[in-house]
Amino acid sequence: MATFSNSKLLLNLGVVLVSIVMTSLVTPSAGSFYRDADINWGDGRGKIMEGGRLLTLSLDQYSGSGFQSKNEYLFGRFDMQLKLIPGDSAGTVTTFFLASQGPGHDEIDFEFLGNASGQPYTVHTNVYSQGKGNKEQQFHLWFDPTSAYHTYSIVWNSQRIIFLADNIPIRVFNNHQAIGIPFPTNQPMRVYCSLWNADDWATQGGRIKTDWTKAPFVASYRNFNVNGNICASGSNVGSCASKSVDSSNSGTWQTQELDAKGRNRLRWVQQKHMIYNYCADVPRFPQGLSAECKRSRF
Ligand SMILES: *[C@@H]1O[C@H](CO)[C@@H](O)[C@H](O)[C@H]1NC(C)=O
Repeated sequence: MATFSNSKLLLNLGVVLVSIVMTSLVTPSAGSFYRDADINWGDGRGKIMEGGRLLTLSLDQYSGSGFQSKNEYLFGRFDMQLKLIPGDSAGTVTTFFLASQGPGHDEIDFEFLGNASGQPYTVHTNVYSQGKGNKEQQFHLWFDPTSAYHTYSIVWNSQRIIFLADNIPIRVFNNHQAIGIPFPTNQPMRVYCSLWNADDWATQGGRIKTDWTKAPFVASYRNFNVNGNICASGSNVGSCASKSVDSSNSGTWQTQELDAKGRNRLRWVQQKHMIYNYCADVPRFPQGLSAECKRSRF
């Protein structure tokens, strides 16, 4: 009797083990925020849930919140699914960005500027190299980013940076170091995400303020996934080793560029959904537009 139930127990255990192994083979990357992220700000307003699959950030009148990746990376593909604050999100900014530390820092930004109920979010993108930014492009989305999760991605390789929304390229920033335009190539960066109040400028130029009667505001993150070169912490650039978490994606980001379909999609996004382009803002740059503005946008 005892032998029978033991072997049954062993069998069940075996089934459980096999299914655990299977699951981890199928979705090796199903990112765990426990494993990959540290909540670095907000005194309990950032919460990891559902066994590490979900992370929510909240904002109230006293504080926002944020988290950062445990690892630093030198190049990679960074994917995050986000569901933005529904309803009235005026005055709030939700972010997903890469940044290095110290002076002359590099940064690659996705920032989502909230709006009054029924009005579209603005997706703000920027690239800083050696401390210098001024490369803003802004978009409205072709979907409602508050009703469901959508995937936002940054591909950063030595030749270019590609911003994607639901795998559709919205922007390419090419490496034009050859003509004197700085490009982030040698400072490891961490992933940062945050939710904060910026009602002095974020929504319709600061005219619409955060309505604190609607607080707390909550943004949700899930499926954080990186294929990239992980750097040993505090190390120099030489020790950033390629590590592919998701084998289905691995290897493509290093040389990723737009194919014909990607170029068509980018054209569509930039014609129909771009609302600001630093390359078209002549009054802002009386000295002349930056040299890369005369180059192909692909
Ligand atoms: C908010 O909505 C207005 C009106 O539709 C729009 O012009 C603006 O770009 C939207 N976004 C922000 C962040 O103000």
